[in-house]
Amino acid sequence: MTARSTAGPAIRVRGLEKSYKDLSVLRGVDFDVDRGGVFALLGSNGAGKTTVVKILSTLLKADAGTAGVNGFDVAAQPAKVRDSISLTGQFAAVDEILTGRENLVLVARLRHLRDPGAVADDLLARFSLTDAGGRKVATYSGGMRRRLDIAMSLIGDPPIIFLDEPTTGLDPQARIEVWRTVKELTENGTTVLLTTQYLDEAEQLADRIAILHRGRIIVDGTLDELKRLLPPATVEYVEKQPSLEDVFLALVGDDGTDKERS
Ligand SMILES: Nc1ncnc2c1ncn2[C@@H]1O[C@H](COP(=O)(O)OP(=O)(O)OP(=O)(O)O)[C@@H](O)[C@H]1O
Ligand SMILES: [Mg+2]
Repeated sequence: MTARSTAGPAIRVRGLEKSYKDLSVLRGVDFDVDRGGVFALLGSNGAGKTTVVKILSTLLKADAGTAGVNGFDVAAQPAKVRDSISLTGQFAAVDEILTGRENLVLVARLRHLRDPGAVADDLLARFSLTDAGGRKVATYSGGMRRRLDIAMSLIGDPPIIFLDEPTTGLDPQARIEVWRTVKELTENGTTVLLTTQYLDEAEQLADRIAILHRGRIIVDGTLDELKRLLPPATVEYVEKQPSLEDVFLALVGDDGTDKERS
């Protein structure tokens, strides 16, 4: 059964720290995610996005700080947190040997839902996979796999969904399909925490954007707020609004190759 929400933000993170041996990855991360909508966590490769998601989904323990998900503390109430979330990882977790429909039925059974077949058929229809539902996942394209993976994460109707780089490795058309799916998720009040290194993805999807850099959140706001951090560039009489990419590069200040952490 889903742990329904209490009051307060969907996610609250305060002073989160995490090191792997002497590599200090998170060095005091603070952010809140309001209920409903898409919150994007941006950062270069190795910034620590997946580390944050793993801590929030109780797969990894923080060294210091606190994190609350759906009003439950990740350290003290991990079972309640797990009942409140689903996680679609950086690498799709679907079973290749089974058909798409069998994958969905399996998860619906594991979550003790009534009529797993009907749950599966409903999701196949929602994700435009009805025709492919009877085929082994091994025959699916990358975009179909991701859609199935996201469909699986909806089973049991969790109020909070973590999508860790949902479109990495997809072609432009498949990315657009996944974007459409993510937009639909938020229509029924689900909260999505999305990690991505694609700035256009955050521009397309996110209601709020936070940038993780050198172990901390260096900026957190709406797209408009982020864009206001840079003055618009004027070329003769035409104003050019900065893109999120301009803002990101100006704030991060490098091309992502500088991995120095002290
Ligand atoms: N289990 C681990 N042991 C040691 N170092 C790790 C481990 N997991 C992650 N790291 C290191 O921690 C840093 C942050 O990794 P993380 O996977 O959180 O980054 P990310 O922002 O998700 O990157 P990407 O965009 O490549 O997915 C990286 O330098 C990574 O090499
Ligand atoms: Mg990652």
